[in-house]
Amino acid sequence: MKTRITELFGIEHPVIQGGMHYVGFAELAAAVSNAGGLGIITGLTQKTPEDLANEIAKCKSLTDKPFGVNLTFLPGFVSPDYPGYIKSIIEGGVKIVETAGRSPEAYMEAFKTAGIKVIHKCTSVRHALKAERIGCDAVSVDGFECGGHPGEDDIPNMILLPRAAEELSIPFVASGGIGNAQQLVAALALGADGINMGTRFIATIEAPVHQNVKDSIVSASELDTRLIMRGLRNTERVMKNVAVDKIVEIEKAKGADIAIDDIMALVGGVYPKVMTEGAMDAGAWSCGMVAGLIHDIPTCEELVTRIVSEAQDIIRSRLAQLV
Ligand SMILES: Cc1cc2nc3c(=O)[nH]c(=O)nc-3n(C[C@H](O)[C@H](O)[C@H](O)COP(=O)(O)O)c2cc1C
Repeated sequence: MKTRITELFGIEHPVIQGGMHYVGFAELAAAVSNAGGLGIITGLTQKTPEDLANEIAKCKSLTDKPFGVNLTFLPGFVSPDYPGYIKSIIEGGVKIVETAGRSPEAYMEAFKTAGIKVIHKCTSVRHALKAERIGCDAVSVDGFECGGHPGEDDIPNMILLPRAAEELSIPFVASGGIGNAQQLVAALALGADGINMGTRFIATIEAPVHQNVKDSIVSASELDTRLIMRGLRNTERVMKNVAVDKIVEIEKAKGADIAIDDIMALVGGVYPKVMTEGAMDAGAWSCGMVAGLIHDIPTCEELVTRIVSEAQDIIRSRLAQLV
């Protein structure tokens, strides 16, 4: 399948694995890239720029295909050493960066000078247009269904993607809620040039997370995610668990007076416990509604090949027969 995204990134299939905290290590990124998609290492999961440089080197030893690095610009008082991380990306020869969180404007010159292509992930048409204006090469449009941070507009992809198609000139991929071939075809029909998946890639053989995490995604239905931190304007879609029930209870009790400190123990620093140790109730972890469509734990190669080949079948057989 050839789209503006496969052309832009020099990949075989229009399938991207979005950056995921404590999931997007070299093993997963390389497996997705080897499968013909675009794998992405999560920059900030690496504690220092030196650690990121090592992770990039590891990924290069596992694949000779293109891969990217995610840089998430977090809200908060203490800013990570972004210039240091960017130096590691540039010196590591990585040519694709996925940015998210806030606008990458301050770093665009550094990226462009180094010949890096930037795909910015955002949750609204206005932010996508801003990304286009500041020189991003593509955007990842993240709908309300997504695992992680869907923003505060609550626009699902059935509306958001065609709205993006109306306004954008640069290529964009559909992100959020996607896990199978029907959805790839739908995303293309809605104007996107490919798909970005998070949750679906966690339930793969190569995802370097505890088996409990994969099993919990396979067991979950589309009803098993919750939105937290809305009152803090930092909404996150997470898998329902004991910790999340507690957060929802605290948020109800505190109402408009909620502060991050009220829930910090349940959201801060919990990823290693969940993802590495498999302590599924240790805290809130991002997960999308697409869990309801995830029923197995294939290799990345099996998953990407299945999605793309079934999508081709749907287009050739089912859709072609309708006209
Ligand atoms: C466990 C998990 C961790 C994530 N961490 C990040 C992150 O650190 N930075 C980021 O930009 N997006 C992060 N995301 C969002 C994904 O990159 C992607 O946009 C999202 O998962 C798409 O929705 P889906 O899960 O429905 O496929 C995370 C998602 C999950 C499920």
